Amino acid sequence: MPRQVQFQLFADCTGLLATTDIKINRELLEACPELKVVSNHAVGYDNIDVPACTEFGVPAGNTPGVLSETTADLAFTLILTAARRVLELADWVKQDRWTVNTGLLDNLGRDVHHTTLGIVGLGRIGREVARRATGFNMDILYHNRKRDEQTEKEFGAVYATRDEILSRSDILSLHLPLSAETKHFIGAKELLMMKPSALLINTSRGQIVDQAALYNAIKNGAIAGAGLDVTDPEPMRGDDPLLTLPQVTVLPHIGSATVTTRIKMAEMASRNLIRALNGQPMLSCINPESIGNGRSAALYK
Ligand code: DGY
Repeated sequence: MPRQVQFQLFADCTGLLATTDIKINRELLEACPELKVVSNHAVGYDNIDVPACTEFGVPAGNTPGVLSETTADLAFTLILTAARRVLELADWVKQDRWTVNTGLLDNLGRDVHHTTLGIVGLGRIGREVARRATGFNMDILYHNRKRDEQTEKEFGAVYATRDEILSRSDILSLHLPLSAETKHFIGAKELLMMKPSALLINTSRGQIVDQAALYNAIKNGAIAGAGLDVTDPEPMRGDDPLLTLPQVTVLPHIGSATVTTRIKMAEMASRNLIRALNGQPMLSCINPESIGNGRSAALYK
């Protein structure tokens, strides 16, 4: 939806329930002077300028927790799909390329069980990925700002530095929030540090990976392949060079896209909004310091 149309539509709104394609920044806050509360229909909030919302006294909500297992399920779907070349080989059948001789060498994939999984970002979703990895007898490495002794104990996960996790993982799964610090966390240098047999999985945000560098790395055999649920930009167009590589699987940002989970997200986002409009605490607020200040002072009397 064009920006000017958004501004016109939201101009008189007190509250806004937003999907992540709507940029909630200073420009929007200025164009919508009545806006006192925003609620994201997502756990990620890189579409929200949090300092600007706080400055205007506009609390912003998000939906952590309710989508963690569903997103972890999709990360594992991509792990298995990339390792076993599921989509590429399913296409053979559709193209009538399944012959009796096929199956000797050219349809071989990689094992997932008993390999080393590196989890970058051990938040709620990363932990659920670790839980699933124990069922595949994987060795689990994690890299995170803080050590997580609970996950180390529960799933046998081992803390690794950034360099260690890059060089030791057979499968590297990204679960970082997008910020100025995490943008292009994986670039040309990092891809060169990975094993040539490694797979990169991204279900977090597309900009965490330098996509041009990823294309070159796979094309030149620096890594073996990738499974991406998120791209930069979104939507990815059908003529993107990455889509020419059979070792790459791209999904259209469906990490949380199950009926049950999307209902839970919608409920949580709605409750965040309604609660704030009634002067009550949100179930999850990104900038609690904004509550009752500036524009929201009128709500939280
Ligand atoms: C989230 O909740 O952040 C998902 O990625 C949907 O955008």
